[in-house]
Amino acid sequence: MSMETLSFEKRGSVGILRINRPEALNALNNQVLNELEEFFDSFPKSIRCLIITGEGEKSFVAGADIKEMEINDYEKALKKAQRGQALFDRIETLNIPTIAAINGFALGGGFELALACDFIVASERAKFGLPEVSLGLIPGYGGTQRLARTIGKGRARMITLTGDIYRAQQAYDWGIAVRLTPPDQLISECMQLAEKIAAQSPAALALAKRSINEGFDLSQYEGMKLEAEIFAETFKTKDHVEGITAFVEKRRPQFTGE
Ligand code: CAA
Repeated sequence: MSMETLSFEKRGSVGILRINRPEALNALNNQVLNELEEFFDSFPKSIRCLIITGEGEKSFVAGADIKEMEINDYEKALKKAQRGQALFDRIETLNIPTIAAINGFALGGGFELALACDFIVASERAKFGLPEVSLGLIPGYGGTQRLARTIGKGRARMITLTGDIYRAQQAYDWGIAVRLTPPDQLISECMQLAEKIAAQSPAALALAKRSINEGFDLSQYEGMKLEAEIFAETFKTKDHVEGITAFVEKRRPQFTGE
């Protein structure tokens, strides 16, 4: 697998994936998309939590690559959006938790990538925005859908319709980022969270993600039915036997994810 625009580091059972095109503020060109697709095709099984961040100090991802945009081509634009959406859907439904570690600009497709992760931790220097309207475009990698579901329609509309760039504190106050950190502590804080998550039952983590993601757009009544079914699914796993046995035996559980 060629990885010229990505770098991957394994720290125990935590993976850190960096978008690595700092000369273009880590913008998502075709090569980055190809390599992300390949990366998730052969995702290492031993990883129990994935941190996604940007290389360098300035940018997480400054959006889709504007210089590769096909002008005046509806079919190519449709395919481009569908491809990005499919990739980000894969990230959202990955069977392990993902943390977006926002080290700088998270704009357009970069903000959309962050929103596809399970939650966002941001450096105090991070900047967020959906500037597509300033290019005569709209967000096409899920931004008009995921942002409103994360922070409500009013704020999502303001961010989308102004095209403004917002500071990390604002993103935190609005519930986009769940935690803010000094820039030099971003990865260590994400690692602490990721290690805590990685010590939990992988089977339960995958099922908890499914229950939240699949239940979110259902009515509460339908969501409760789904939750009960997924709760019952956990009782088919070896992890739940290990978790309960370890509690009774007053020891740490050794989960396998089965
Ligand atoms: N695509 C391609 N290249 C980009 C880029 C992008 N999205 N963002 C930055 N770059 C490139 C710049 O062209 C520049 O390259 P050169 O040195 O070759 O000129 C390099 O990265 C550094 O950028 P700047 O010199 O512009 O840095 P700055 O500090 O002055 O400004 C910035 C930073 C405000 C983020 C500015 O780069 C910017 O506005 N970038 C575009 C952001 C944007 O509009 N993103 C949305 C893209 S559309 C999209 O994402 C659609 C979708 O939903 C899928």
